[in-house]
Amino acid sequence: MRKKVIAGNWKMNKTVEEGLALATEVANITKDEVPSDVQVVICVPYIALAPVSKVLNSRVALGAQNVHQKESGAYTGEISATMLASVGVSYVIIGHSERREYFGETNAQLAEKVNIAMAQGLTPLFCCGETLQQREQGIHIDFVNSQLTESLFHLSAEDIKKVVIAYEPIWAIGTGVTASDEQAQEMHAKIRSHLASKYGAAVADEISILYGGSMKPDNAKGLLACKDIDGGLIGGASLKARDFISIAKSY
Ligand code: PGA
Repeated sequence: MRKKVIAGNWKMNKTVEEGLALATEVANITKDEVPSDVQVVICVPYIALAPVSKVLNSRVALGAQNVHQKESGAYTGEISATMLASVGVSYVIIGHSERREYFGETNAQLAEKVNIAMAQGLTPLFCCGETLQQREQGIHIDFVNSQLTESLFHLSAEDIKKVVIAYEPIWAIGTGVTASDEQAQEMHAKIRSHLASKYGAAVADEISILYGGSMKPDNAKGLLACKDIDGGLIGGASLKARDFISIAKSY
C-alpha cells in the first residue's frame, strides 16, 4: 500500500503569529476529521518551523520548503538539513518549479539536496513538471523523465522508496487552471513506468506520487480517485485550514 500524503506548501505567506494560528487549526481538525491513513504535512516558511513544531500533534508532519545542499559553512542566508532536523522537520520540498525558475536550481544541485536531506532522515518531496510550451510541443513526458533521471536515479532502490514525488505542471501552479484528471493520471502513470524501468515494478509501485497545481476542495476528489495519484501538494488552498482539510478528507 502506498502512503497517501496531503501536503500544504504555504510558500512565502503568513507571519509567525498567523502561521501558528493556521497550524493549530490544521492540527486540531486533522486529529478529529482526517482518516488516519492520510499523512498530512505542512511546509511552512523557515522562520515559522520551530514555533509551529510546538503546536502540531502526531497527525501532522512538519515540512520545509527548501534546504541547502551543503552540510554547513559559509553560505550566508542558507539553512542546512541538520538545522531542519533539529527543529522536528521530517519532510522537505526539493526542486519546486519556483526555485528552479527564480533561483536557478539545476537537476544536479537538486540531486545533492536530495542526498543531504536523506542523510538527515528527511523525506524529500521532490517536484517535477513541465511548462505549457513543453506540453504543447509534446516533449512534456521526456522532460519530466529527465528531471527524475538526473536528480533521483543515483539513489538505491531502498532509498528511492523513501522519496515522495510531486508532479506539478507549471502551467497549473497558482493559475487556477488544473490538469484534468486524465492529464494528471497519464503523467503519473508515465512517471511510475519511468521509475519501474530503472528500479522494477515492485519498487515503483511503492512510491507515492502527488499531484500539485491548483488542487482545491472542488477538484480534489476526481484527482485523488485516479489510480496513480497518491495525494496532493497544495499551495493556495493550504492557506485556509478548512479548504486544506477538506482536500485531505476527499479520499
Ligand atoms: P497551487 O500551488 O496549489 O497554488 O497551484 C501548488 C504548488 O506550487 O505547490
